[in-house]
Amino acid sequence: MSTTTTEYGTAMTVTGTQRKGRMALDGAPTNYGDFRDALNRDGYAVIKGAIPLDRATKYADEFYSYLEGFDLGYDRTDPSTVKPSKLPVINEKGMILAYGVTHEKWVWDIRGEPGVVDTFAKVYDDDDLIVSFDVVNVQFANRKDMPENKPWPHQDQDPAKPGFRCLQGLVNLNPCGPNDGGLIVCPGGHKISEQFHREMADEPRIPAWTPEWFGFTDNGMKWLADHGLDWVKVCAEPGDLIIWDSRVPHYNLPPSGKNDRLAVYTCFMPVVEASQEDLVRKKKAFEDRLGTTHWPNAVHVGTNLAMRDGKPCPKARERPIEEPILTERTFKLTGIPYIEQKA
Ligand SMILES: [Fe+2]
Repeated sequence: MSTTTTEYGTAMTVTGTQRKGRMALDGAPTNYGDFRDALNRDGYAVIKGAIPLDRATKYADEFYSYLEGFDLGYDRTDPSTVKPSKLPVINEKGMILAYGVTHEKWVWDIRGEPGVVDTFAKVYDDDDLIVSFDVVNVQFANRKDMPENKPWPHQDQDPAKPGFRCLQGLVNLNPCGPNDGGLIVCPGGHKISEQFHREMADEPRIPAWTPEWFGFTDNGMKWLADHGLDWVKVCAEPGDLIIWDSRVPHYNLPPSGKNDRLAVYTCFMPVVEASQEDLVRKKKAFEDRLGTTHWPNAVHVGTNLAMRDGKPCPKARERPIEEPILTERTFKLTGIPYIEQKA
């Protein structure tokens, strides 16, 4: 049974469990016998069929319907309509950041998929998780009118805060082969992250909007290559979940083949790692239908205002087109039930 947020909001208060332990993500060999062995070794893994194909296909359809629903002229069957004026604002990396997209019903449905949540629960050995209110990504095939998306190799974690802190994820919704764009990773980067930042401490830092983003310079890329690290294009089928340690260098590329790239970012962490202050901030972000980037503990809270050619997009909106319908489990993922009630 599903119900609305409001009903759960008044009915449920949950106490977070104590942390039970989680994967070390230290690069040492493990013998879990599942995706966790690859994750520990490489710093990333592909979970095949995390979402059954029929539902992944439905979500891809909903993604396209969402784009068409802006009534700007985009039609999935007509490639000539793949142009900025006919689409919501999409940045050069393929991300739709605004319009309340992070809280669209279909996006929440993806976050709540059992195979997605259970993957993170396994890594953290903890069922009491919170999820990021992160964005969606569409990179169209054969697109010529976007600014060049130059590789932007980076890690999504402040080098001053080393160790495994965050596991990122994305659900892939279209076939994503070698030429279909998507995630490029540097396997093993998590293992030598601390050494890299120690030895490259004097390297000038690429400017970033947050200390939690670190860009790899040409010298940094050379260091990685000199230490035997390579880059891999991660391939996936519809319904596959890709996860990676935030310390693993990565970026994305647009497709050069025939398939559009469709992805929804999903990142979970144990609620015990969020402070009460974090959870209150996250609750406000949920109520205002704002994004939190990939950080489930709402390190950053975004805006829903889409800017088009320097002006607010005429289709700008503060709320999703279709409000989410949360289940008991997805409501827990908002973190709201874990906020302590003051006497
Ligand atoms: Fe990233």
